[in-house]
Amino acid sequence: MFEPRDKMIRVLGIETSCDETAASVVALREGAEPEILSSVVFSQIEEHAAFGGVVPEIAARAHVEALDGIVEAALADANTELFEVDAIAATAGPGLVGGLIVGLMTAKAIAAAAGKPLLAINHLEGHALTARLTDGLQFPYLLLLVSGGHTQIVLVRGVGDYRRWATTIDDALGEAFDKTAKMLGLPYPGGPNVEKAARVGDATRFVFPRPMKGSTQPDFSFAGLKTAVRQAAAGVAPLSDQDVADICASFQAAVSDALADRVGRCLARFREEFPDIADPALVVAGGVAANKAIRAALDDQCRRRGFRFIAPPHELCTDNAAMIAWAGIERIRTGLDADDAFGFVPRSRWPLDEVSAPVVGSGRRGAKA
Ligand code: KG4
Ligand code: ZN
Repeated sequence: MFEPRDKMIRVLGIETSCDETAASVVALREGAEPEILSSVVFSQIEEHAAFGGVVPEIAARAHVEALDGIVEAALADANTELFEVDAIAATAGPGLVGGLIVGLMTAKAIAAAAGKPLLAINHLEGHALTARLTDGLQFPYLLLLVSGGHTQIVLVRGVGDYRRWATTIDDALGEAFDKTAKMLGLPYPGGPNVEKAARVGDATRFVFPRPMKGSTQPDFSFAGLKTAVRQAAAGVAPLSDQDVADICASFQAAVSDALADRVGRCLARFREEFPDIADPALVVAGGVAANKAIRAALDDQCRRRGFRFIAPPHELCTDNAAMIAWAGIERIRTGLDADDAFGFVPRSRWPLDEVSAPVVGSGRRGAKA
């Protein structure tokens, strides 16, 4: 059971669900704003670049090699000794199972050795609650999560209380960026390189489909767009730099437009369901949230519908351990600290909203997207 040592809670967070090895110490002092005392993120991008994507075995091995040092660095940066930490919070899913095992087992070992409580955190909950760490946002609000593995709009009603309002029926948006980049011969990771090429491109040269735009089904789809990009590229091959730039700009315009439409629909629904909330907000998270064209389209959509648009700083939108430590603090404050986290088995699939039916890829372990 959790017992704070004084009027301050300090949690050590550990994140290893994909290709970032991360550790962080976050503190919450009674009556004060939360404080990120340290946040160390070691990106494995270079180790995966040669393969054009994340290789699970390489990721797990890299986590094993890096994690001890990263945890030590996070404690040192925070000027905190392990015995001063009140709890350990580790990502326990969803993600690549090898990495999850490394992170959760390490956390179990540290917590057992130091006699500290352990919290098994859902990675998506980390993303969902980040805006409360950075902006002190009050419940309820809407979250758009757009990363390499997820594309969802989630109603965040409280800690541990989420409703998925929209999800992708095929590819995640980051995946669509990465596949587009690959087709055009741009290096991994695709998203930032597509954005860079798009800057000098003509967004009107190719008219790509806006998947699901106007549909009454709330979800996203990006597979058709990917096919359209492939056909356009084949149609003008061999591709000059300008062709690549024009395809990227046209792709980004289509994505921004489709996203704005899907998000707009959920903003309208939020208004209907919560007419009394005077200052509604949309939060964006995930690597794709770095994209400036997408941010501008979302910002515009929010402004038109009277919503606040909250985009946490880039390093807190992408994978990090501060969001995991913070989710741990939120759970402790709410009295939701799982007392059987030592027996928790990592979950490669773990939807935030366990009630809504999966749209695609439902297997024994739950929804894929
Ligand atoms: O959240 P994240 O760092 O990792 C997870 O997937 O969990 O997201 C990575 C994804 C990749 O697909 C990457 O291509 C995409 O985010 N991304 C971008 C940009 N920066 C990263 N997509 C579009 N524009 C960007 N500037
Ligand atoms: Zn993530």
